[in-house]
Amino acid sequence: MRKLLPALYYLHRDRHLHPQTRILGLARSRHGLEEYRKLVRRHLSQHVARGDLTEAGWESFAARLDYLTLDLSQRLEFNRLARHLGDHPERVRVFYLATLPDLFAPAALHLQSAGLVNAEARIVLEKPLGNSLETARRINEQIGSVFDESRVFRIDHFLGKEAVQNLLALRFGNALFEPLWRNGHIDHVQISVLETVGVEGRGAYYDEAGAMRDMVQNHLLQLLCLVAMEAPVHFEPESVRNEKLKILEALRPITGMDVQDQTVRGQYSKGKRAGETLPAYYFEKSVDHDSSTETYVALRAEIDNWRWAGVPFYLRTGKSLAQRKSEIVIQFKTVPHRLFPGTTPEGNRLVIRLQPDESISLALMAKSPGRGMTLQEVELDLHFDEAFKRRRWDAYERLLLDVIEGDATLFMRRDEIEAAWRWMDPIIGGWHEVYRSPRRYAAGSWGPEAADSLLERYGHIWLDER
Ligand code: BG6
Repeated sequence: MRKLLPALYYLHRDRHLHPQTRILGLARSRHGLEEYRKLVRRHLSQHVARGDLTEAGWESFAARLDYLTLDLSQRLEFNRLARHLGDHPERVRVFYLATLPDLFAPAALHLQSAGLVNAEARIVLEKPLGNSLETARRINEQIGSVFDESRVFRIDHFLGKEAVQNLLALRFGNALFEPLWRNGHIDHVQISVLETVGVEGRGAYYDEAGAMRDMVQNHLLQLLCLVAMEAPVHFEPESVRNEKLKILEALRPITGMDVQDQTVRGQYSKGKRAGETLPAYYFEKSVDHDSSTETYVALRAEIDNWRWAGVPFYLRTGKSLAQRKSEIVIQFKTVPHRLFPGTTPEGNRLVIRLQPDESISLALMAKSPGRGMTLQEVELDLHFDEAFKRRRWDAYERLLLDVIEGDATLFMRRDEIEAAWRWMDPIIGGWHEVYRSPRRYAAGSWGPEAADSLLERYGHIWLDER
């Protein structure tokens, strides 16, 4: 209601959907078709920009909508679905599962036994894909017995964000940065996805998952891959995913005592932002009062390959923080020789900002006006909404269209998911053995102090404007 239907609405409005495309909502709730359409309309009016939802636009979109009550765990119900869809071998069907991962495999098998899976059919899986390497493998195995890998779309909506794709454009559409994009010139990299929201009514899911599974396993590691991967030979699924996989495989394992040294997990307690009192995590709806689930993670990762040896990648993400900000900071090394007395040389910094606004900025040292040679840092800024005066597509619009067109370049392949879990499992396991309780941080703050100390130990600081 918040992401998918608004994205489909825009695709419809901008004429990217075939006139015969139909959208069938499936859930356990009982709704009549008119009631369902009203529900969709209500949500669209909240999530589609004012002025974009016209009466005519809505009417024509509503004509594509349909609804069926269905329990995904019940095989026999799929026969009803098959009857409802009718026999249209010429049509491409996309099955989009935004459900608990436990339902992925049963749903796929039931679709197959109801005769709904032909060679063109696609399945889209929303993360999390399992909660460990073992569970992810099992799901992949079962899905793979029904759908060919080229028809499985494991969605990570961060890859649909314009600014994330711009990172690829920046790296591989310009020759400027490539010679510098390596350990000889880059000091370290910071990847932050900071949120001000809490668990937003998703306590039951989140308390099982935690920030590591909800955000790091997918979004942050995908961003890390895009920063670190080699140039793919083609911009097509296998080339891009092969390169990302190599990075995931080169991540140095964090095991044993390193878990304590290289990672920090936190959980928000009661706090304040702009005068508003914010609840502690363990008071959120459907969260266990003794919960030791992390709502914040910071860690230091290293990539063992020629390009990145010795360059730390600091990753952090958390909920209920002081500021909403997602960005990638590439911190370059300082000049090798200090020429201008009175100026402390700063390394150049490239910041790719994903949220709240999309921009790329490059911090340079420049002479400040007047006498002498005193240097100060200034920024070259590129704001995408100023550079391109066009509506920015939402990540889901781009990705849903890719699924319809069968392009998996921006989706995760099975082996990528498994490599990510292989690296994550020992960290999560380590937390449960040696480092059980998360550190508290006040809601509305910048996260646990231990996350600052983690970087200080290596002579770095989080590059925030606090
Ligand atoms: C989702 C996570 O994948 O991404 C949420 O499950 C998180 O916990 C969200 O809030 C962040 O995405 P965005 O696009 O709103 O920054």
